[in-house]
Amino acid sequence: ESLLVKDKPLKGMKVVVTAGPTQEDLDPVRFMTNHSSGKMGYAVARAARNLGADVTLVTGPVSLRKPVFMDVVEVRTAIQMFEAVEALKDEYDILVKSAAVSDYRVERVSDHKMKKQGNQLTIDFVTNPDILAHMGQLKKANQVVCGFAMETQDLVENATKKLVNKGADLIVANQLNEDAAGFKKDTNVVTILTGEGITKLDVMSKEALGYEIMNRLLQILVKKRG
Ligand code: CTP
Ligand code: CA
Repeated sequence: ESLLVKDKPLKGMKVVVTAGPTQEDLDPVRFMTNHSSGKMGYAVARAARNLGADVTLVTGPVSLRKPVFMDVVEVRTAIQMFEAVEALKDEYDILVKSAAVSDYRVERVSDHKMKKQGNQLTIDFVTNPDILAHMGQLKKANQVVCGFAMETQDLVENATKKLVNKGADLIVANQLNEDAAGFKKDTNVVTILTGEGITKLDVMSKEALGYEIMNRLLQILVKKRG
């Protein structure tokens, strides 16, 4: 939070950021989640705020300090995140989807605590809506959408598919097995993909990367709006 930016290039703009994991309930006492810490998304939201934007942060459960001078919408499940983000579809100039959304949810959430039974357990899951792809479809000509991609192999190939298939303007691709990257770390190594090309960035703090991402998204927005 140390960086103060005098020039406010995002003044008058609305930025929506999603961050953190989602939780998918199995029964009243259990849920499925992932290792997302929310650090990257929170850094993006703080950078956008410090650059002058009006920010809404839609966040899954994380143990980070709640940021000030922005709207914070707390959600738990992918469906709740979907609804919170969709409700903002006409309001945002830039949408950054850094949340680690569960691809699946339990088909039938048990009303009662599931009792231990036998030596195996089989649970049916159904796919969650893809929030990024949905927002990419609804996107208007003067809006910018940014997604993330988490890969353990074929980074550029997989991330390029996400850029195209989800209608994103920019994808921030993380290779999970790099030393300086990962859920709980304060640094990240990413490759940025846009319609213009592919750029591998050096290791940097998530804080600095937040500014880097917002600057690139602003450039895309300015270009779109001529
Ligand atoms: N995403 C989303 N809604 C989902 C799943 C993913 O909005 N139900 C978004 C993430 O927030 C991220 C991007 O899509 O910005 C890519 O997420 P990722 O898990 O890397 O890609 P998937 O499309 O889910 O593909 P896979 O998990 O099979 O690699
Ligand atoms: Ca996924």
